[in-house]
Parts: sequence; C-alpha cells; structure tokens
Amino acid sequence: MKLPKIVFALALLLSLMQSQGCKHEPVIVLTAADSAICFERDILPIFVSSCAKSGCHDQVTAKEEVILNNWQGIMAAGVKPGNPKDSKVFEEIQEDMGGPAYGNLNADQILLIRKWIMLGAKNTTNCPSDCDSTQFKYSTAIKPLIDKYCIGCHSYPNASASVELSSHAGVAASAAGGVLLNSLKHTTNWMPKGGNKLSDCEIRQFEKWINAGTPND
Ligand code: HEC
Repeated sequence: MKLPKIVFALALLLSLMQSQGCKHEPVIVLTAADSAICFERDILPIFVSSCAKSGCHDQVTAKEEVILNNWQGIMAAGVKPGNPKDSKVFEEIQEDMGGPAYGNLNADQILLIRKWIMLGAKNTTNCPSDCDSTQFKYSTAIKPLIDKYCIGCHSYPNASASVELSSHAGVAASAAGGVLLNSLKHTTNWMPKGGNKLSDCEIRQFEKWINAGTPND
C-alpha cells in the first residue's frame, strides 16, 4: 500500500525538529574533586576579569543592571542552581557574550563555571588556597594567575590602559618600575579592578618572579 505523501512530509518534519532540538550538550561527569570548587577562589575572579569590566557589567556602568562582581549579582543575572543549560548567564558565556571584548574565557574556565552551577552554584568563601609561594616560574605560576585574574581586561584588542598581559613580554613590561607590583599591592592602582586583592602568597609569587628579573621560564 502506498502511504500518502503527507505522512512522509510529516515524518520528515518531525525528524528535522528532533535533530534541531538536540544541541549535543556535552556530558559532564562530576568527580569527588569537583566538590572542592570554591566560588570565591575559583569562579568569582573569572567573572570579574571577563565580565565585570568597564562598559560591560561593573558597578559603575552595569548594562541592563547586571553586576557580575559579586555572588548576588551573578545569581541575579540568571543562574539556575543545578542547571547550567537553563542559566542565562551561562548561555551568554557560551555565546562568547556577543563580541571579542567578552570572549576571553578558555575551555577550562567554561567547564569550571558549568560544574559550579551543576553543584548548586553555592556562595562558598574563605576556601583553603593551594598557593605555594616557593613556586614562581612564569609558565607554571605567573601566567596561570594572569589568566585567572587579569586577562579578560588586559588583552588585545581591548587591553585596559593599553596594559597587555597575554604574553610574557607584556607582563614583563608592566613590571618595569614597580607598576605591576604596586597595582597588586594596592599602593597605586587597585588590581584586579573591581575584584578582591590577590592573596599575600600570590603577590609574593609575583614579587619573587620580578626580583628574579622576570624570566620567561
Ligand atoms: C575588570 C577589569 C580589570 C581587571 C580584571 C584587571 N585590570 Fe588592570 N586595569 C584596568 C583598567 C580599567 C586600568 C586603567 C586604570 C584604572 O581605570 O584604574 C588598569 C590598569 C592596570 C595597570 C596600569 C596601572 C598604572 O598605574 O599605570 C596595571 C599594571 C594593571 N592594570 C595590571 C593588572 C593586573 C596584574 C591584573 C590582574 C591581577 C589586572 N590589572 C586586572 C582593568 C582591569
């Protein structure tokens, strides 16, 4: 028996709709270690650096009243605890927030935020630090700190104050004359702008690297 054409058309439409609906959400398996993810230590600096800069979502210029340098503001921007998929803030992160000025999150940072939301998006503070002030190599100590706290505001094409920190040369240049260290210690400028001061241990790592002559090691 020949089926009417309309049946085929409907079947085609249905299968099309299904394949559109399935956006291939990555399957994330949470491990025991993930329960240690800490809002204040691991998540907040990423939001401050990438999303709370001037002209975007800082206290002064807050677009659409979205302020992303504290837990309340981040939650209000649309975080559904346990459900990254339905979290508006996360959708925006994944879409790179609409432009190169925002698109500085790397895959690890996006995964970390996703896991934090999956684990309930808790406001965890005063978490133990894994900082070791005896470590101050550029590649393993300094660069990861810059990537976490600074890079969102200080990379081309929109580097704040023309301070470019995405390369060793840029970080070394900012250290000249004590500018970098003074801003970390809050003696002159306050960096990271709009965020918490780095821990004494982290500042010590910068200090030792600078005293060693800012090597590209
Ligand atoms: C939210 C955006 C933002 C973040 C995050 C940020 N900065 Fe800045 N930075 C700025 C802006 C804007 C300026 C220009 C001066 C000002 O407005 O305070 C600046 C200026 C500077 C200067 C020049 C200071 C001077 O006295 O000339 C240095 C050095 C600097 N930042 C280093 C850093 C470092 C290191 C970090 C990370 C620990 C960091 N910044 C994180 C926005 C940011």
